[in-house]
Amino acid sequence: MTSFKDKIDKLNLPKHIAIIMDGNGRWAAERGYDRIFGHQNGVTSVREITEAAAEIGIEYLTLYAFSTENWSRPQAEVDALMELLIDTIENETPTLNKNNVRLMAIGDLTRLPGKAAEKLQRCIDQTSKNTGLSLVLALSYSSRWEITNSLKIISKEIEAGKLKTDDINDELISSFLTTKNIPDPDLMIRTSGEVRVSNFLLWQIAYTELYFTKTHWPAFRKEDFYQAILEFQHRERRFGK
Ligand code: FPP
Repeated sequence: MTSFKDKIDKLNLPKHIAIIMDGNGRWAAERGYDRIFGHQNGVTSVREITEAAAEIGIEYLTLYAFSTENWSRPQAEVDALMELLIDTIENETPTLNKNNVRLMAIGDLTRLPGKAAEKLQRCIDQTSKNTGLSLVLALSYSSRWEITNSLKIISKEIEAGKLKTDDINDELISSFLTTKNIPDPDLMIRTSGEVRVSNFLLWQIAYTELYFTKTHWPAFRKEDFYQAILEFQHRERRFGK
């Protein structure tokens, strides 16, 4: 059986794919386990999809790992998620290096617990020279936080006389977001059946193709990822023209 991977046009790949990894809790509940078990299995999907993206030659993969809103989940779940995220990042650093993957992070990283922030920064530093896939983790991220934050910085620059109101345009705003230097996503995937964007990269997805699948994140595998890329390649993008 030919796989979706074989049908992908390698010369027309999306440069940047963003994923809303949803459904860990539901996946676990359907199997009679608690939510944490779902998150643990979600890590396997993170590994698989990172490998798939690197293998096929995607340049940027952004994963919505922890939203600003996730801070309001029960403390035990927040703690477990933080631990899982940080342990994974720490344990995977050698593999990231072996596969030439550069780790980046976007979001309000000042809200991360001190130790988590330190370990994250260590992995970012240790992989910073890699030239293959850039794996961008959205941590303590929400678009409204990001846009509000950028408005504050721009306003301060204007107050300080470093910028003029007339300097403000699309490009300038993009350069004050946490995604500066990262191209806008070409494709955004959301797993687990919900058809919404949930405060993720709102500015950046102006012309992004959206792809929704019912598959829960812990069950999402390479072929599901390739299927999404194939669907993307069958769409006609006009960028409003
Ligand atoms: C959504 O499922 C998932 C999350 C809030 C966390 C995603 C985290 C991981 C996959 C773990 C580690 C990630 C990395 C990058 C190492 P949900 O809890 O909202 O599920 P539900 O909608 O079914 O309740």
